[in-house]
Amino acid sequence: MISEKMSQALNEQVNREMYSAYLYMSMSAHCNQVGLKGFANWFMVQYHEEMLHAMKIYEYIQRQGNEVKLAAIKAPPTSFESPLDMFNQTLEHEQFITRSINDLMELAIAEKDHASQIFLEWYVTEQVEEEENDNDIIAQLKWIKDNPQGLMMLDRELAARMTTVPTDFSKGVESAATAAGA
Ligand code: FEO
Repeated sequence: MISEKMSQALNEQVNREMYSAYLYMSMSAHCNQVGLKGFANWFMVQYHEEMLHAMKIYEYIQRQGNEVKLAAIKAPPTSFESPLDMFNQTLEHEQFITRSINDLMELAIAEKDHASQIFLEWYVTEQVEEEENDNDIIAQLKWIKDNPQGLMMLDRELAARMTTVPTDFSKGVESAATAAGA
């Protein structure tokens, strides 16, 4: 079991991860609309990653015998100035998520909740990768500036990103990961 306070904090994290999915879904839609299909693909893959992040916590709360309490997901922005603007917003959002994961870890440590500490370690590692991915693309976009040819080349590169996470959670996250070969 986990404390009610930890359960509530984890429920709030489910909502943050679902908002992340919603944000990247919105960015994907915008990219499709302006003809950047590769960028749209990258953000849709990111959407799936965020759904996995949310589902892992959802399942953990239930496995600990606590209650999942879903809350409203706020609306994401729907218009963006440029690909650089989207990735700057993505990095800023991921830094916010990193801080929230750190807060959860602090709570788990304060409560001597070893199970939650072990569970949250995966997210600590994941956030390093999330921020690294964004920083890499921001660096490339800064080189590209207003060069359409460079942007098209990056668009083709981002089109190759594949979903490596399971997307069907009907039998639980673990069995979905096994079925997806993840
Ligand atoms: Fe679930 Fe992108 O952090």
